[in-house]
Amino acid sequence: MKGIILAGGKGTRLYPMTKAISKQLLPIYDKPLVYYPLSVLLLADIREILIISSPDAIGLYEELLGDGSQLGVQFQYAVQDQPRGLADAFILGADFIGDDSVCLVLGDNVFYGQQLTDTLKTARENNVGATVFGYPVRDPSAFGVVEFDDQRNVISIEEKPEHPKSSYAVPGVYFYDNEVIEIAKNVKPSARGEIEITAVNNEYLRRGKLRVVLMGRGMAWLDTGTPDGLLSAAEYVSTIQKRQGFYISCIEEIAWRRGFITTEEFREIGESLKMTDYGQYILELCKGERK
Ligand code: TTP
Repeated sequence: MKGIILAGGKGTRLYPMTKAISKQLLPIYDKPLVYYPLSVLLLADIREILIISSPDAIGLYEELLGDGSQLGVQFQYAVQDQPRGLADAFILGADFIGDDSVCLVLGDNVFYGQQLTDTLKTARENNVGATVFGYPVRDPSAFGVVEFDDQRNVISIEEKPEHPKSSYAVPGVYFYDNEVIEIAKNVKPSARGEIEITAVNNEYLRRGKLRVVLMGRGMAWLDTGTPDGLLSAAEYVSTIQKRQGFYISCIEEIAWRRGFITTEEFREIGESLKMTDYGQYILELCKGERK
């Protein structure tokens, strides 16, 4: 399975912060925002990853993440010249996906929780067609919202409905089989001029191949699209890390625990960052001081 991180967009809700800087490079406490969605793909054991961003920003992502060899994975990069919509990821990424299946994660989504790795692995292993998630939020109207019938079967997903039919929003991580390329190519732009991921999901539903897995309230799905969202996410990460002594979305730690890199390679990364708490954390893990 291939992975795609969509890290373009305009970030207009964060202006002036994102006037000159790509949103997904902004910090969430101690690391760039893009580390969080990247950790989701690594946790799902995905090692071939395409990072898509705007023409101005793509070089910065390459500078930050390189070719992936430091993490024992492969990164490729693609430019999205205009924010044409989320489903554009599969058109831009068609050659990269080839005849494989794919997991898309939005570059500004933060996930954390006890069952996250299991949830992702199960979704990956059991996927037939498309698997997306449903997550309860107080105000779902800014998202795709799942509509259920009385038996809890999914009837539709509505994009940014004024009157949501449930509190279950669809978060920014999605698993698809290879048909997603053909489906995305045939999606017509919506009223706001975007090729919507919700249209892709509804096409899978029409074909009888959409699974919606509900995430419980024990999972944290944080939205970082607004100044308050950014601040809350940073506070959340800082609180958990200080309390537990374990880091959220330390991509080097995940690569090491998954066996993508050796302890020696992991230690070298820690040494290069040893002027920071982040680097010290890695060195402590190497010494076995945190289990
Ligand atoms: P959004 O939050 O919908 O859009 P945005 O980031 O441009 O922000 P704003 O609404 O403030 O203008 O995008 C969700 C994620 O997807 C985000 O990480 C940006 C990314 N994205 C793209 O990379 N390309 C696109 O065409 C779109 C629509 C979004």
